Amino acid sequence: MTIDGMSDTTNTPSSSLPGGTWTLGDLTVDRFGYGAMQLAGPGVMGPPADHDGALAVLREAVDLGITHIDTAGAYGPRVTNRLIREALHPYPASLRIVTKVGAVRDRQGGWPPARRPEELRRAVHENLDDLGLDALDVVNLRLGDAQGPRPGSLAEPFEALVELQRQGLIRHLGVSNATAEQVAEARSIAPIVCVQNMYNLAHRQDDGLIDELAEQGIAYVPFFPLGGFTPLQSSALSAVAARLDATPMSVALAWLLRRSPNILLIPGTSSVAHLRENVAGAGLALSDEELAELDKIGR
Ligand SMILES: NC(=O)c1ccc[n+]([C@@H]2O[C@H](COP(=O)([O-])OP(=O)(O)OC[C@H]3O[C@@H](n4cnc5c(N)ncnc54)[C@H](OP(=O)(O)O)[C@@H]3O)[C@@H](O)[C@H]2O)c1
Repeated sequence: MTIDGMSDTTNTPSSSLPGGTWTLGDLTVDRFGYGAMQLAGPGVMGPPADHDGALAVLREAVDLGITHIDTAGAYGPRVTNRLIREALHPYPASLRIVTKVGAVRDRQGGWPPARRPEELRRAVHENLDDLGLDALDVVNLRLGDAQGPRPGSLAEPFEALVELQRQGLIRHLGVSNATAEQVAEARSIAPIVCVQNMYNLAHRQDDGLIDELAEQGIAYVPFFPLGGFTPLQSSALSAVAARLDATPMSVALAWLLRRSPNILLIPGTSSVAHLRENVAGAGLALSDEELAELDKIGR
């Protein structure tokens, strides 16, 4: 079904990574994944300063056993997808690339919405071209704006993606930056396999949604798991990290894996060293007392 990359849907997750595996529809991935946004230039615009370094991060991710890479055509724009292709194509059969459509970039680096059906069709075809695929594993409809989710019906754009799925261009659908109502509306139109919203130790607005999705077998993929452009800062987090002789980032990732089995990690980094640290750190064991202490941070 593919040009010469993912030749089938064989699942061979490594599960040697912290957290084990999760299945998105019929696609099994390791819960520890990688978010590619940081590979583009400053402000997620243009090429990286260190092109070879960016390729090295992607290759290291696969070497470490990562089977889930999160990306978007808007990163660069069209920069991270092309880096992924250059670094990893032909793709390992176990690798799942999850992308997003619904926003483009303006000259100022903003993220204006592009959710009309023809814009979504164009975005899906650009993702296919840039990644060198003839079907995308998972496409998230990115809603809201840079300030967060916004209420309103997603029916028209989501139905446009359902049509592209019927045409065989998309295997599974998800939503991103979505309200709980929009998640419910999407599910009333077609099955979704994941929700990608902002969530971390200090931003717990989706706690109820995560538990609901876990019961329904739908993945929750927190973006900004480490705080994004503003690193997570909390005295309680620092205290637990110091006691465990670990970094706050390790504790934040390990906590997310413990928070709920449907949480998939996609921490971003442009550094091979940080990628290795994050994989090792997410396996940190947290006691019930430490979990209780951490649980108070974002409440
Ligand atoms: N759906 C959406 O609207 C949306 C929005 C934002 C992001 N996303 C997705 O979510 C993914 C994760 O978000 P994110 O990358 O913005 O934020 P993040 O994972 O919370 O944090 C990334 C930041 O942490 C730093 N970092 C990572 N590991 C580190 C370590 N071990 N030590 C020190 N610093 C470290 C990175 O810098 P270095 O590069 O120096 O390591 C980078 O500045 C993105 O890659 C993207 O795929 C989706």
